[in-house]
Amino acid sequence: MRRSRRRGGSGDSLTRVSDFSAARQILIASNRGPVSFSRGDDGHLSVRRGGGGMVSGLSVVASRADLLWVCAALSDADRAAARLAPGGMLGLDGTSGGSDVQMLDIPAATFHRAYNTVANSVLWFVHHMLYDTPNHPQFGLAFRRDWEAYREYNQAFASAIATSRAADGKIRALIQDYHLALAPRMLAGRSPGTLIAHFSHTPWAPVDYFRLLPDDIAAEVLDGILGADHAGFLSRRWADAFIDCCEHVLGARVDRDARTVTHRGHVTGVGVHPLGVDAAELTRRGAEPDVEARMARLREQVGDRKLIVRVDRTELSKNIVRGLAAYRELLLRYPQWRGKVTMLALAYPSRHDLPEYREYAASVQRLASAIDDEFGSPDWDPILLRANDDYPRSLAGYRLADVLLVNPIRDGMNLVAKEGPILSDGRCALVLSREAGAADELGCEAILVNPFDVAGTAAALHEALTMPQDERARRCRSLAAIAGAHAPADWFADQLAALDAGPGGAG
Ligand code: F6P
Repeated sequence: MRRSRRRGGSGDSLTRVSDFSAARQILIASNRGPVSFSRGDDGHLSVRRGGGGMVSGLSVVASRADLLWVCAALSDADRAAARLAPGGMLGLDGTSGGSDVQMLDIPAATFHRAYNTVANSVLWFVHHMLYDTPNHPQFGLAFRRDWEAYREYNQAFASAIATSRAADGKIRALIQDYHLALAPRMLAGRSPGTLIAHFSHTPWAPVDYFRLLPDDIAAEVLDGILGADHAGFLSRRWADAFIDCCEHVLGARVDRDARTVTHRGHVTGVGVHPLGVDAAELTRRGAEPDVEARMARLREQVGDRKLIVRVDRTELSKNIVRGLAAYRELLLRYPQWRGKVTMLALAYPSRHDLPEYREYAASVQRLASAIDDEFGSPDWDPILLRANDDYPRSLAGYRLADVLLVNPIRDGMNLVAKEGPILSDGRCALVLSREAGAADELGCEAILVNPFDVAGTAAALHEALTMPQDERARRCRSLAAIAGAHAPADWFADQLAALDAGPGGAG
């Protein structure tokens, strides 16, 4: 079937072009943007670079002069900054990395319902399979109201993209993640001629789990993404699950060999684009004095004991509680490790607006204290739990780790599993959940675990701690080489190539 690049629509956006010059061709749309604002005690707004896996993967392209990055104002300070800038176009003097940034001042209540209630409490839970299903979810009237806000939020992005587009219509819009599942369809309707990609940084749920969503909502999500010309995923597994949902939930025509989905007369190519790490840049950053200083401090605390490291946002899907439970079982089943090993658990704050996340952070704290009470002695702290965000300390942890534990319930990719071996200098064994996208590539050299199997994870930690030095060095070097493939610039170029090639082409 011929690819339908131009679709129906009023075309009125062609006459509503802002100052987005014709030379500019790429537009990224994401909830979290490359910058965020905070207000000081004196009321002054200051700007800093944004964080998170998706933003750091994309920030490598932020220096492109032909890029406009459209994002949402996430806080009151962001909203104030967006209001001060004409059309939300921020003048940033390079803080964003060079690209222009348009920050959308979406009403706070709409944003809260779309981001916290729908995106993070429903779509995130579905794709990571996080529900306690005897009790949740319950899709009642309140959910319908929240879904309406999610539509409005997506519509705000689609409008901003459509009205920002270049006059010659050559724009490529790269729309990111589950927050913006409806925007591709909305944009396609308003802006024929725009090439649209959607990229999922999360896993995609299997059909039966995806069907927890009300039928019309499930169909709307799929139909929304299928408004794009290209739908990208981090792992083959997530791409296949999406295709399955398109076939079984939506009744779309799918071609698994060509990886295309045909729906409403339009063909969407489905691509797999794994994201790796810029090894040279990470190695450079990991050798900076602030990292060395934290290494010295950690060495003082850990002494000559073996070190197990984990680095996560305090996120339900990261499975921190079972990771700590596995460490406890290690100390119970293999008592020879008592006094001989320390776990450094870096668990940074995340999504504290959601009660489940606050409760989860408290559970992590409780279990860490319980392990400390059960096994600790005057000269041994079995576990060092740190909950404040400190990037150089994470890099120091990678450099000193004998074992890196990455055991998510489900994860789109997980870059910790890739960053650790790059900085480890051949000393680190990787214990990795088979449910992380990174397991596709790293599984051959990691010790894979079922993230629910606490006893199995304890055994894997023991195996990793006792792995002979030559074996761990060989595996670690191999892991580092794999992790350095698909660096962000290549990953991004790969997606653009797939979008330009059309369905069944590259990707
Ligand atoms: O795709 C998942 C993701 O958007 C990551 O890119 C990022 O690390 C994480 O979720 C952050 O989520 P939030 O923006 O809600 O803090």
